[in-house]
Amino acid sequence: MTEKEITEEIRERIKKIKEEFEEEIKKSKSEEDIKRAKSKFLGKKGLIQELFKIIPQIKEEEKRKEIGKLINDLKEYIEEKTKYESESQILILKDEEIPDITLPGRRGFLGSLHPITITLQKIILIFEKMGFEVEHGPEIEDDWHNFTALNIPPDHPARDMQDTFYLEDGRLLRTHTSPVQIRAMLKRKGILPVKIIAPGRVFRRDFDATHSPVFHQVEGLFVDRKVKMSELFGTLDFFFKKFFGEKTKVRFRPSYFPFTEPSAEVDVSCLCEGRDKNCKVCKGSGFLEVAGCGMVHPEVFKSVGYENVQGFAFGMGVERLAMIKFGIKDIRLLFGENFSAFKKRFL
Ligand code: PHE
Repeated sequence: MTEKEITEEIRERIKKIKEEFEEEIKKSKSEEDIKRAKSKFLGKKGLIQELFKIIPQIKEEEKRKEIGKLINDLKEYIEEKTKYESESQILILKDEEIPDITLPGRRGFLGSLHPITITLQKIILIFEKMGFEVEHGPEIEDDWHNFTALNIPPDHPARDMQDTFYLEDGRLLRTHTSPVQIRAMLKRKGILPVKIIAPGRVFRRDFDATHSPVFHQVEGLFVDRKVKMSELFGTLDFFFKKFFGEKTKVRFRPSYFPFTEPSAEVDVSCLCEGRDKNCKVCKGSGFLEVAGCGMVHPEVFKSVGYENVQGFAFGMGVERLAMIKFGIKDIRLLFGENFSAFKKRFL
Protein backbone atom coordinates (compact mmCIF):
# COMPACT_ATOMS: atom_id res chain seq x y z
CA MET A 1 0.00 0.00 0.00
CA THR A 2 1.27 3.43 -0.82
CA GLU A 3 1.62 6.11 1.82
CA LYS A 4 -1.40 7.84 0.34
CA GLU A 5 -3.55 4.71 0.54
CA ILE A 6 -2.57 4.15 4.16
CA THR A 7 -3.59 7.67 5.24
CA GLU A 8 -6.84 7.45 3.29
CA GLU A 9 -7.67 4.19 5.04
CA ILE A 10 -6.93 5.64 8.48
CA ARG A 11 -9.13 8.64 7.74
CA GLU A 12 -11.89 6.23 6.79
CA ARG A 13 -11.44 4.27 10.04
CA ILE A 14 -11.54 7.41 12.16
CA LYS A 15 -14.81 8.39 10.54
CA LYS A 16 -16.29 4.91 11.07
CA ILE A 17 -15.27 4.83 14.74
CA LYS A 18 -16.89 8.19 15.33
CA GLU A 19 -20.11 6.99 13.72
CA GLU A 20 -20.00 3.83 15.78
CA PHE A 21 -19.57 5.90 18.96
CA GLU A 22 -22.53 8.15 18.12
CA GLU A 23 -24.63 5.06 17.48
CA GLU A 24 -23.59 3.57 20.79
CA ILE A 25 -24.45 6.74 22.74
CA LYS A 26 -27.83 7.01 21.06
CA LYS A 27 -28.65 3.46 22.18
CA SER A 28 -27.47 4.01 25.76
CA LYS A 29 -30.29 3.77 28.29
CA SER A 30 -28.39 4.02 31.53
CA GLU A 31 -25.27 5.31 33.18
CA GLU A 32 -23.89 1.80 32.89
CA ASP A 33 -24.29 1.79 29.09
CA ILE A 34 -22.32 5.02 28.87
CA LYS A 35 -19.53 3.67 31.07
CA ARG A 36 -19.33 0.59 28.86
CA ALA A 37 -19.11 2.71 25.70
CA LYS A 38 -16.42 4.83 27.33
CA SER A 39 -14.18 1.85 28.02
CA LYS A 40 -14.83 0.36 24.59
CA PHE A 41 -13.49 3.48 22.89
CA LEU A 42 -11.11 5.01 25.42
CA GLY A 43 -9.94 1.95 27.41
CA LYS A 44 -6.36 0.65 27.33
CA LYS A 45 -7.30 -1.81 24.64
CA GLY A 46 -9.95 0.46 23.21
CA LEU A 47 -10.47 1.47 19.59
CA ILE A 48 -8.69 4.81 19.99
CA GLN A 49 -5.50 3.14 21.28
CA GLU A 50 -5.64 0.78 18.26
CA LEU A 51 -5.72 3.82 15.98
CA PHE A 52 -2.66 5.37 17.67
CA LYS A 53 -0.71 2.18 16.98
CA ILE A 54 -0.96 2.72 13.23
CA ILE A 55 0.76 6.12 13.29
CA PRO A 56 4.37 4.82 13.13
CA GLN A 57 3.54 3.19 9.78
CA ILE A 58 3.25 6.64 8.23
CA LYS A 59 6.67 7.77 7.08
CA GLU A 60 5.97 11.32 6.01
CA GLU A 61 6.12 13.64 9.02
CA GLU A 62 3.46 16.11 7.82
CA LYS A 63 0.94 13.33 7.25
CA ARG A 64 1.84 11.72 10.59
CA LYS A 65 1.12 14.97 12.42
CA GLU A 66 -2.15 15.44 10.56
CA ILE A 67 -3.44 11.94 11.35
CA GLY A 68 -2.24 12.19 14.96
CA LYS A 69 -4.30 15.34 15.37
CA LEU A 70 -7.41 13.73 13.88
CA ILE A 71 -7.19 10.81 16.33
CA ASN A 72 -6.59 13.18 19.25
CA ASP A 73 -9.62 15.26 18.29
CA LEU A 74 -11.79 12.17 18.24
CA LYS A 75 -10.41 11.07 21.61
CA GLU A 76 -11.21 14.44 23.17
CA TYR A 77 -14.64 14.42 21.61
CA ILE A 78 -15.45 11.01 23.13
CA GLU A 79 -14.02 12.06 26.51
CA GLU A 80 -16.14 15.18 26.53
CA LYS A 81 -19.32 13.35 25.56
CA THR A 82 -19.01 10.55 28.07
CA LYS A 83 -17.86 12.87 30.85
CA TYR A 84 -20.83 15.18 30.47
CA GLU A 85 -23.31 12.35 30.35
CA SER A 86 -22.01 10.63 33.47
CA GLU A 87 -21.53 13.78 35.57
CA SER A 88 -24.87 15.34 35.04
CA GLN A 89 -26.80 12.16 35.82
CA ILE A 90 -30.03 13.44 34.27
CA LEU A 91 -30.28 12.18 31.11
CA ILE A 92 -31.31 9.05 29.71
CA LEU A 93 -35.02 8.77 30.40
CA LYS A 94 -37.13 5.84 29.43
CA ASP A 95 -39.89 6.68 26.95
CA GLU A 96 -42.58 6.70 29.60
CA GLU A 97 -40.47 9.01 31.79
CA ILE A 98 -40.06 11.73 29.22
CA PRO A 99 -42.10 14.73 30.36
CA ASP A 100 -44.76 16.09 28.06
CA ILE A 101 -43.45 19.57 27.39
CA THR A 102 -46.65 20.53 25.58
CA LEU A 103 -48.65 20.50 28.84
CA PRO A 104 -49.64 23.99 30.06
CA GLY A 105 -47.51 25.36 32.94
CA ARG A 106 -48.74 25.71 36.51
CA ARG A 107 -50.21 29.07 37.38
CA GLY A 108 -48.15 31.08 39.88
CA PHE A 109 -49.83 32.85 42.81
CA LEU A 110 -49.80 36.63 42.97
CA GLY A 111 -48.52 38.02 46.25
CA SER A 112 -50.27 40.87 48.08
CA LEU A 113 -49.38 43.21 50.89
CA HIS A 114 -50.35 42.40 54.48
CA PRO A 115 -53.13 44.67 55.83
CA ILE A 116 -50.74 45.95 58.50
CA THR A 117 -48.26 46.97 55.79
CA ILE A 118 -51.01 48.69 53.80
CA THR A 119 -52.20 50.52 56.92
CA LEU A 120 -48.67 51.61 57.89
CA GLN A 121 -48.01 52.90 54.37
CA LYS A 122 -51.22 54.96 54.41
CA ILE A 123 -50.43 56.44 57.84
CA ILE A 124 -46.88 57.36 56.86
CA LEU A 125 -47.96 58.93 53.58
CA ILE A 126 -50.48 61.24 55.27
CA PHE A 127 -48.02 62.42 57.94
CA GLU A 128 -45.21 62.89 55.43
CA LYS A 129 -47.47 65.23 53.48
CA MET A 130 -47.86 67.23 56.71
CA GLY A 131 -44.07 67.50 56.98
CA PHE A 132 -43.33 64.78 59.55
CA GLU A 133 -40.05 62.86 59.21
CA VAL A 134 -39.95 59.08 59.78
CA GLU A 135 -37.73 57.91 62.66
CA HIS A 136 -36.91 54.38 63.79
CA GLY A 137 -35.78 53.12 67.17
CA PRO A 138 -34.59 49.73 68.46
CA GLU A 139 -37.08 47.04 69.48
CA ILE A 140 -34.81 46.05 72.37
CA GLU A 141 -34.71 49.02 74.70
CA ASP A 142 -33.29 49.87 78.08
CA ASP A 143 -35.33 50.88 81.09
CA TRP A 144 -34.24 54.54 80.83
CA HIS A 145 -35.51 55.17 77.26
CA ASN A 146 -38.69 53.09 77.66
CA PHE A 147 -39.70 54.31 81.13
CA THR A 148 -37.51 56.66 83.20
CA ALA A 149 -36.92 59.36 80.57
CA LEU A 150 -40.67 59.32 79.88
CA ASN A 151 -41.47 60.18 83.48
CA ILE A 152 -42.62 56.67 84.30
CA PRO A 153 -41.45 56.15 87.90
CA PRO A 154 -39.91 52.84 89.08
CA ASP A 155 -43.09 51.77 90.89
CA HIS A 156 -45.36 52.42 87.93
CA PRO A 157 -47.57 49.41 87.09
CA ALA A 158 -46.52 49.56 83.41
CA ARG A 159 -43.10 48.26 84.47
CA ASP A 160 -44.69 45.19 85.99
CA MET A 161 -43.42 41.79 84.89
CA GLN A 162 -47.05 41.18 83.92
CA ASP A 163 -46.86 43.74 81.13
CA THR A 164 -43.24 43.90 80.02
CA PHE A 165 -41.01 41.27 78.42
CA TYR A 166 -37.65 41.52 80.17
CA LEU A 167 -34.36 40.14 78.85
CA GLU A 168 -31.95 38.36 81.17
CA ASP A 169 -29.53 41.30 81.05
CA GLY A 170 -32.19 43.72 82.38
CA ARG A 171 -33.04 45.24 79.01
CA LEU A 172 -36.57 44.84 77.65
CA LEU A 173 -38.70 44.68 74.53
CA ARG A 174 -40.13 48.18 74.11
CA THR A 175 -43.73 48.34 75.33
CA HIS A 176 -44.53 51.38 73.16
CA THR A 177 -42.92 53.57 70.49
CA SER A 178 -42.59 56.51 72.90
CA PRO A 179 -38.85 55.84 73.56
CA VAL A 180 -38.29 57.03 69.98
CA GLN A 181 -39.45 60.49 71.17
CA ILE A 182 -36.47 60.47 73.53
CA ARG A 183 -34.03 59.19 70.90
CA ALA A 184 -35.23 61.69 68.28
CA MET A 185 -34.80 64.65 70.64
CA LEU A 186 -31.35 63.52 71.82
CA LYS A 187 -30.26 62.98 68.20
CA ARG A 188 -31.30 66.51 67.16
CA LYS A 189 -29.54 68.12 70.13
CA GLY A 190 -32.14 70.87 70.47
CA ILE A 191 -32.42 71.86 66.81
CA LEU A 192 -36.04 72.90 66.24
CA PRO A 193 -38.59 71.99 65.19
CA VAL A 194 -38.60 68.28 65.95
CA LYS A 195 -41.39 66.89 63.81
CA ILE A 196 -41.32 63.13 63.57
CA ILE A 197 -43.41 60.01 63.41
CA ALA A 198 -42.03 56.65 64.53
CA PRO A 199 -43.74 53.52 63.22
CA GLY A 200 -42.72 50.15 64.61
CA ARG A 201 -43.31 46.93 66.49
CA VAL A 202 -44.01 46.93 70.22
CA PHE A 203 -44.40 44.11 72.73
CA ARG A 204 -46.64 43.40 75.74
CA ARG A 205 -47.63 40.34 77.72
CA ASP A 206 -51.20 40.24 76.50
CA PHE A 207 -53.14 37.88 74.26
CA ASP A 208 -56.85 37.72 73.46
CA ALA A 209 -59.28 38.71 70.69
CA THR A 210 -58.20 42.36 70.79
CA HIS A 211 -54.63 42.08 72.14
CA SER A 212 -51.55 40.53 70.56
CA PRO A 213 -48.16 40.23 72.35
CA VAL A 214 -46.58 41.83 69.27
CA PHE A 215 -48.32 44.77 67.67
CA HIS A 216 -47.57 48.03 65.90
CA GLN A 217 -47.77 51.65 66.90
CA VAL A 218 -47.07 54.94 65.20
CA GLU A 219 -45.67 57.59 67.52
CA GLY A 220 -45.84 61.27 66.72
CA LEU A 221 -43.86 64.15 68.21
CA PHE A 222 -43.84 67.85 67.44
CA VAL A 223 -41.58 70.17 69.42
CA ASP A 224 -41.02 73.90 68.83
CA ARG A 225 -40.80 77.16 70.82
CA LYS A 226 -44.59 77.54 70.96
CA VAL A 227 -46.95 74.63 70.39
CA LYS A 228 -50.65 74.72 71.27
CA MET A 229 -52.97 71.90 72.19
CA SER A 230 -55.32 73.02 69.40
CA GLU A 231 -52.52 72.18 66.95
CA LEU A 232 -52.46 68.65 68.34
CA PHE A 233 -56.23 68.35 67.96
CA GLY A 234 -56.11 69.84 64.46
CA THR A 235 -53.33 67.50 63.35
CA LEU A 236 -55.11 64.36 64.55
CA ASP A 237 -58.52 65.49 63.29
CA PHE A 238 -56.98 66.09 59.85
CA PHE A 239 -55.17 62.75 59.92
CA PHE A 240 -58.17 60.60 60.88
CA LYS A 241 -60.40 62.32 58.31
CA LYS A 242 -57.81 61.57 55.62
CA PHE A 243 -57.40 57.99 56.86
CA PHE A 244 -61.04 56.95 57.42
CA GLY A 245 -62.87 59.49 55.24
CA GLU A 246 -63.96 63.11 55.52
CA LYS A 247 -67.21 62.24 57.32
CA THR A 248 -65.31 60.77 60.28
CA LYS A 249 -65.88 62.46 63.62
CA VAL A 250 -62.85 62.72 65.91
CA ARG A 251 -63.41 63.07 69.67
CA PHE A 252 -60.93 63.81 72.46
CA ARG A 253 -61.51 62.59 76.03
CA PRO A 254 -59.41 63.63 79.05
CA SER A 255 -57.03 60.88 80.08
CA TYR A 256 -53.71 60.26 81.78
CA PHE A 257 -50.20 59.39 80.56
CA PRO A 258 -47.09 60.02 82.68
CA PHE A 259 -45.28 61.63 79.71
CA THR A 260 -48.01 64.09 78.63
CA GLU A 261 -49.91 66.80 80.51
CA PRO A 262 -52.68 67.38 79.77
CA SER A 263 -53.44 64.01 78.17
CA ALA A 264 -56.29 62.81 76.01
CA GLU A 265 -57.64 59.67 74.45
CA VAL A 266 -58.72 59.90 70.79
CA ASP A 267 -61.92 58.28 69.51
CA VAL A 268 -63.18 58.12 65.93
CA SER A 269 -66.79 57.58 64.88
CA CYS A 270 -67.77 54.03 63.95
CA LEU A 271 -69.02 53.11 60.46
CA CYS A 272 -72.47 52.56 62.02
CA GLU A 273 -72.42 56.21 63.17
CA GLY A 274 -73.90 55.14 66.50
CA ARG A 275 -77.20 54.18 64.85
CA ASP A 276 -76.79 50.44 65.39
CA LYS A 277 -77.19 49.75 69.10
CA ASN A 278 -76.07 46.15 68.49
CA CYS A 279 -72.98 47.11 66.43
CA LYS A 280 -70.24 44.56 67.22
CA VAL A 281 -67.40 46.93 66.33
CA CYS A 282 -68.23 49.84 68.66
CA LYS A 283 -70.61 47.88 70.91
CA GLY A 284 -73.28 50.48 70.27
CA SER A 285 -71.28 53.44 71.58
CA GLY A 286 -70.77 54.95 68.12
CA PHE A 287 -67.07 55.62 68.79
CA LEU A 288 -63.81 53.63 68.83
CA GLU A 289 -60.66 54.42 70.77
CA VAL A 290 -57.68 54.69 68.40
CA ALA A 291 -54.91 56.74 70.02
CA GLY A 292 -53.48 58.44 73.06
CA CYS A 293 -52.05 61.95 72.99
CA GLY A 294 -51.17 65.05 74.94
CA MET A 295 -48.78 67.93 75.50
CA VAL A 296 -45.22 66.75 76.21
CA HIS A 297 -44.61 66.70 79.99
CA PRO A 298 -41.92 69.13 81.27
CA GLU A 299 -40.18 66.17 82.97
CA VAL A 300 -39.66 64.58 79.52
CA PHE A 301 -37.99 67.73 78.19
CA LYS A 302 -35.86 67.79 81.33
CA SER A 303 -34.59 64.25 80.70
CA VAL A 304 -33.30 65.20 77.23
CA GLY A 305 -32.05 68.66 78.23
CA TYR A 306 -34.51 70.72 76.17
CA GLU A 307 -35.40 74.16 77.61
CA ASN A 308 -37.97 76.78 76.64
CA VAL A 309 -39.83 74.49 74.31
CA GLN A 310 -43.34 73.11 74.01
CA GLY A 311 -44.62 70.08 72.17
CA PHE A 312 -47.32 67.55 71.54
CA ALA A 313 -47.11 63.78 71.20
CA PHE A 314 -49.43 61.00 70.18
CA GLY A 315 -49.35 57.23 69.80
CA MET A 316 -51.78 55.14 67.75
CA GLY A 317 -52.35 51.41 67.47
CA VAL A 318 -51.90 50.23 63.89
CA GLU A 319 -53.78 46.91 64.32
CA ARG A 320 -56.71 48.86 65.75
CA LEU A 321 -56.80 51.12 62.70
CA ALA A 322 -56.45 48.15 60.32
CA MET A 323 -59.25 46.24 62.11
CA ILE A 324 -61.61 49.19 61.80
CA LYS A 325 -60.67 49.95 58.20
CA PHE A 326 -60.99 46.34 57.02
CA GLY A 327 -63.76 45.28 59.44
CA ILE A 328 -61.70 42.60 61.19
CA LYS A 329 -63.19 41.39 64.50
CA ASP A 330 -60.33 39.29 65.88
CA ILE A 331 -56.75 40.61 65.96
CA ARG A 332 -55.39 37.05 65.78
CA LEU A 333 -56.60 36.82 62.18
CA LEU A 334 -53.89 39.32 61.31
CA PHE A 335 -51.12 37.07 62.60
CA GLY A 336 -52.56 33.58 62.15
CA GLU A 337 -51.10 31.06 59.74
CA ASN A 338 -54.43 30.82 57.94
CA PHE A 339 -53.79 34.05 56.13
CA SER A 340 -55.31 32.99 52.80
CA ALA A 341 -58.70 32.41 54.45
CA PHE A 342 -58.35 35.88 55.94
CA LYS A 343 -57.53 37.40 52.56
CA LYS A 344 -60.58 35.81 50.94
CA ARG A 345 -62.82 37.43 53.53
CA PHE A 346 -61.29 40.84 53.87
CA LEU A 347 -59.11 41.79 50.92
N1 PHE B 1 -47.34 55.42 74.55
C1 PHE B 1 -48.76 55.47 74.78
C2 PHE B 1 -49.30 54.03 74.78
O1 PHE B 1 -48.62 53.14 74.36
C3 PHE B 1 -49.46 56.27 73.75
C4 PHE B 1 -49.11 57.73 73.79
C5 PHE B 1 -48.07 58.22 73.03
C6 PHE B 1 -49.84 58.62 74.59
C7 PHE B 1 -47.75 59.56 73.07
C8 PHE B 1 -49.53 59.95 74.63
C9 PHE B 1 -48.50 60.41 73.87
O2 PHE B 1 -50.41 53.79 75.20
